[in-house]
Amino acid sequence: MVTKFLLTFAICRLIVTVGLAVYPTEILRSGDLEGHLSMDPSDVVSVSRDFGGLSSAEPMAVLYPASSRDVARLVRSSYESARVFGVSARGHGHSINGQAMTGNGVVIQMSGHRKAAPPPRVSERLMYVDVWGGELWIDVLRSTLEYGLAPKSWTDYLYLSVGGTISNAGISGQAFNHGPQISNVHELEVVTGKGELVTCSEDQNRELYHAVLGGLGQFGIITRARIALERAPQKVRWIRVLYSNFSAFTEDQEFLISLHRQPEALKFDYVEGFVIVDEGLINNWRSSFFSPRNPVISSLHADGGVLYCLEIAKNYHQSNALAIDQEVEALLKKLKYIPGTEFTTDLPYVDFLDRVHKAELKLRAKNLWDVPHPWLNLFVPKSRIADLDEGVFKGILGNKTSGPILIYPMNKSKWDERNSVVTPNESVFYLVAFLRSALDNGDETQTLKFLENQNQQILRFCEDRDIQVKQYLPHYTTQQEWMRHFGDKWELFSRRKMEFDPRNILANGQAIFKPYFDLDVASL
Ligand SMILES: Cc1cc2nc3c(=O)[nH]c(=O)nc-3n(C[C@H](O)[C@H](O)[C@H](O)COP(=O)(O)OP(=O)(O)OC[C@H]3O[C@@H](n4cnc5c(N)ncnc54)[C@H](O)[C@@H]3O)c2cc1C
Ligand SMILES: *[C@@H]1O[C@H](CO)[C@@H](O)[C@H](O)[C@H]1NC(C)=O
Ligand SMILES: *[C@@H]1O[C@H](CO)[C@@H](O)[C@H](O)[C@H]1NC(C)=O
Ligand SMILES: *[C@@H]1O[C@H](CO)[C@@H](O)[C@H](O)[C@H]1NC(C)=O
Ligand SMILES: *[C@@H]1O[C@H](CO)[C@@H](O)[C@H](O)[C@H]1NC(C)=O
Repeated sequence: MVTKFLLTFAICRLIVTVGLAVYPTEILRSGDLEGHLSMDPSDVVSVSRDFGGLSSAEPMAVLYPASSRDVARLVRSSYESARVFGVSARGHGHSINGQAMTGNGVVIQMSGHRKAAPPPRVSERLMYVDVWGGELWIDVLRSTLEYGLAPKSWTDYLYLSVGGTISNAGISGQAFNHGPQISNVHELEVVTGKGELVTCSEDQNRELYHAVLGGLGQFGIITRARIALERAPQKVRWIRVLYSNFSAFTEDQEFLISLHRQPEALKFDYVEGFVIVDEGLINNWRSSFFSPRNPVISSLHADGGVLYCLEIAKNYHQSNALAIDQEVEALLKKLKYIPGTEFTTDLPYVDFLDRVHKAELKLRAKNLWDVPHPWLNLFVPKSRIADLDEGVFKGILGNKTSGPILIYPMNKSKWDERNSVVTPNESVFYLVAFLRSALDNGDETQTLKFLENQNQQILRFCEDRDIQVKQYLPHYTTQQEWMRHFGDKWELFSRRKMEFDPRNILANGQAIFKPYFDLDVASL
């Protein structure tokens, strides 16, 4: 019985797959495109994996677009056809859970073929840059620096695409001050799920604009983004200080982000932090600048307790180098960290922004970069952050973290509620990011299974204690879970889907809406 069912299923699947396999190439003659559509197995395989290393799916073909029109042509050919196929934009493929994949359609490789896409265009007068949706942030930075300008809000790592981060939010230590990256985008050019090329902003097609920001790729493919710029600082004073008292640590973080309305001199430009659980430092690719053998740290760690590292930075211009010492000193005086635990570095602005890439190169050299990454990112309401400390940092994690654990607060007032992303219902919330790497080195506590199990325990802990966290870079497999994730926003989210992608063509790797070709299989 079961075998018969499976056989029937397999045959149906085969018919559908073969039926579709020729499809995009049939309707899109190569003459229609400025770029090209490839069914070459090596191209197909190259887009079938991501940074998470946890799942894979091979599309039928890969589009290497040369223009927004190429993107629109492909989506339109699916939208207008009798049998829809999925279309997923892929930036740098740095998702964890297959969000940029599609098993039964076409992946549009937006990043990584520089000649094709239009180059960044800076307006010095209006202080913005127009960039291709697949542009990597590192290249956005390089091109704006030629004008002495730079974007204001960042992610910790710059080898991510503009389209990929603004489909989520794009956060780092500047978010408390400038808001997430999606609060710094003036205008977008988007290909909707109907294959229409639309320009949208606060002033035109506003609904689409807000839908796409933090929209998990569900409403349109971002082909161009207009990003706000500021005068680029030349240098950064990068400081770390340590705490063993969690409330003192979070009080200081919250104090520092409350300075967002102060003039330049009276606040830091970047506020983050991380948790140090025992030998966490050795594995912590974010902490290369203090040695794990540092005597202060090892003495603090003698009792095996948890430490918290506040990470702050102040931008400056060479001509202000004298004032910076006093400004930093005045700010540090107001903090309650353990005396004698300041670690300070001065470096060029670009090197600061690109700091994680340095760590990447080191890990690559040791073959520790291309390993599975069962990452979990949570937004935690401020009122419950101490529960995470008790129950997770000092509880569930035990004494080995297998990667950095970031923690820093943000203020909801910098987030536009009309955008698609959801955050906790509290004016201040924390990002808590468990950025772990799974290894197969005989240590059971570092295996993928162990870490995934721990992630489940963390989620269950929040559930049991009624801590209303929201996942950032969310991952769910059923629509029920997605409805819960979006809460009050679900109605708006699904209404926007019906308007902008009524045939559920886009980004079905997110598993929010069922793609129509899967429905076909079910009804055969
Ligand atoms: C080492 C590392 C560090 C990170 N640090 C941070 C951080 O500090 N802050 C932070 O906020 N995030 C961070 N992230 C997460 C990262 O921002 C997201 O995973 C982001 O989606 C990755 O961008 P990508 O270009 O690789 O996207 P992909 O993985 O290629 O795509 C992600 C999703 O966006 C969609 N998408 C991609 N391009 C477009 C487009 N042009 N238009 C519409 N939809 C599109 C895809 O369909 C998919 O659903 C980090 C990730 C890694 C691996
Ligand atoms: C930890 O810090 C808080 C807030 O500053 C303070 O009230 C408390 O007394 C400190 N606890 C210890 C054990 O020092
Ligand atoms: C968050 O921002 C709001 C509005 O600016 C402000 O009233 C509040 O004090 C801020 N909270 C913190 C902790 O900065
Ligand atoms: C971790 O904790 C376990 C159990 O508490 C203990 O046996 C082990 O020695 C600890 N490991 C380290 C590295 O401290
Ligand atoms: C958010 O919290 C406020 C006050 O606690 C409450 O009145 C409101 O209903 C909540 N909103 C949502 C969407 O849960």
